[in-house]
Amino acid sequence: MDHRIRKVVVLGGGTAGWMTAAYLGKALHGTVSVTVLEAPTIPKIGVGEATVPNLQKLLFDFLGLPEEEWMPECNASFKMAVKFVNWRTPGEGEPTARWVDGRPDHFYHSFGTLPSHDGIPLSHYWVHDRLRGRTDDPFDYACLRETPAMDAKRAPRWFDGNRAMPYAWHFDAHLVADFLRRFATARQGVEHVQDELVDVEFDERGFITALRTRQGRRLDGDLFVDCSGFRGLLINQAMGEPFVDMSDHLLCDSAVAAAVPQDSAREGVEPYTSAIAMKSGWTWRIPMLGRFGTGYVYSSRFAEPDEAVRDFCALWGLDPETARLNRIRFRVGRNRRAWVRNCVGIGLSSCFLEPLESTGIYFITAAIHRLVTHFPDRRFDQALIDRFNHEIETMFDDTRDFIQAHFYFSPRVDTPFWKANKELRLAEGIQEKVAMYRAGMVVNPPASDDESTVYGSVDLDFRKVWTNGNYYCVLAGLGVLPDRPLPLLLHRPRSLDSVESRFSTVRDRQRELVATLPSNYDYLRRLHAK
Ligand code: FDA
Repeated sequence: MDHRIRKVVVLGGGTAGWMTAAYLGKALHGTVSVTVLEAPTIPKIGVGEATVPNLQKLLFDFLGLPEEEWMPECNASFKMAVKFVNWRTPGEGEPTARWVDGRPDHFYHSFGTLPSHDGIPLSHYWVHDRLRGRTDDPFDYACLRETPAMDAKRAPRWFDGNRAMPYAWHFDAHLVADFLRRFATARQGVEHVQDELVDVEFDERGFITALRTRQGRRLDGDLFVDCSGFRGLLINQAMGEPFVDMSDHLLCDSAVAAAVPQDSAREGVEPYTSAIAMKSGWTWRIPMLGRFGTGYVYSSRFAEPDEAVRDFCALWGLDPETARLNRIRFRVGRNRRAWVRNCVGIGLSSCFLEPLESTGIYFITAAIHRLVTHFPDRRFDQALIDRFNHEIETMFDDTRDFIQAHFYFSPRVDTPFWKANKELRLAEGIQEKVAMYRAGMVVNPPASDDESTVYGSVDLDFRKVWTNGNYYCVLAGLGVLPDRPLPLLLHRPRSLDSVESRFSTVRDRQRELVATLPSNYDYLRRLHAK
């Protein structure tokens, strides 16, 4: 008997819905009919968005879409890092770094990989020198090749298209969903139904059999993917799967967002997302040609909405009465199980962490990839479902802990919000990692130093989303240093003697990148003019 899945119905036409539909269309070689049901009257979450580097390889390359094709359609720009501004010093929200002891309060969490010397990451030689007072250079400037190029607002590619360093993208989420809709319907044969879900039909085992719409349609299917956003219409409401709230780890639950015009020709386009610390949260700044997307992510326990709007508008000189503001309330956490019987949640209906490390779209890509790897037949073997759920859970919880560490280890205690973050509990996994860090060890070593491997494999990512370089960028950036250098290093006098030449190679590369790369503005203008 043929048990193959024949029909997949995706509920929701936001970024998650169209990414899922396009990906399934391609991955299943057209053997399955895919329908997207989307209510045109129910808005999608569409704030300016930042991503992580494996998006091209795992999604767009897979779909056969080079950057030159999709970037101009989505007003996309480059992102080489998240730049954290004022996470160490008390004060009001300010768009630029405050200066303390002759240094600006900023650090980069870069996508660049950390070089090694004699098999030990440069971070550990830096700690050795730093704890002995031999260097005053911040970690990101001493160990990473990309940092000065980011300060100089360089593009991550030369004009001939060659890449100088790893990067991700900023884009307009609405344009991406729309681009993928056109791609999926024209090239993958995905059916698009514009109508509103009003009812769900089940069989006697509690499996979904069909979705009913306001205009009287009945969409039957074998597998249903819930991409309906925070409402979780299928997975939470119809299937009754509980949402595990994680506000005991992360306090932010609201945002106020806007698009701010910018004279890119005069000011350039920063090739990174900024995360600017505020009184009760932080503000993102996502630069694109001609404007930047921005939003204050805050905790409603510590700031009233009006106060958040005031602080946000003051940051950018906007008038709260006339500015077009998008107010968003979000839930932080994940469904107890991402996949239940024949219903899988992907996107905001499944899980969400506040956007500090831009993980929303990454989680979608990862979940679709895992759905395909674990693709069931109509018998819905529980082993596939359990494995999928376990992987989503591990990926999510690990990232939750990493993000919580940003707030927990920031030395700021100048407002009730920053103080409250220090009183929260850290999960065991991150406590262990921080203990390793303090003991001078390499934390979660990456499977490879090779950038194409690091950013090209979901399998590696699932096991290790955040590796040594990530922990160093953030913890050292926040001013938390290990208690002692890696003990092994003291038994490697020859490595210690020769490491200066490695640091000097990093400095040479930094100068070369600044001298030879075009400005991000010039590169983007050319790309978008094509
Ligand atoms: P979304 O809400 O966009 O879409 C839901 C869809 O369901 C819509 O098409 C709607 O019409 C449809 N629908 C709802 N009810 C329906 C019904 N009854 N019948 C039919 N259709 C129905 N991510 C990231 O990677 N980087 C970032 O920088 C950010 N930044 C960010 C900031 C803030 C404040 C938030 C809240 C989120 C982010 N994200 C993010 C996350 C990102 O926005 C999100 O992961 C994607 O946009 C995916 O959203 P969805 O498609 O899941 O839901």
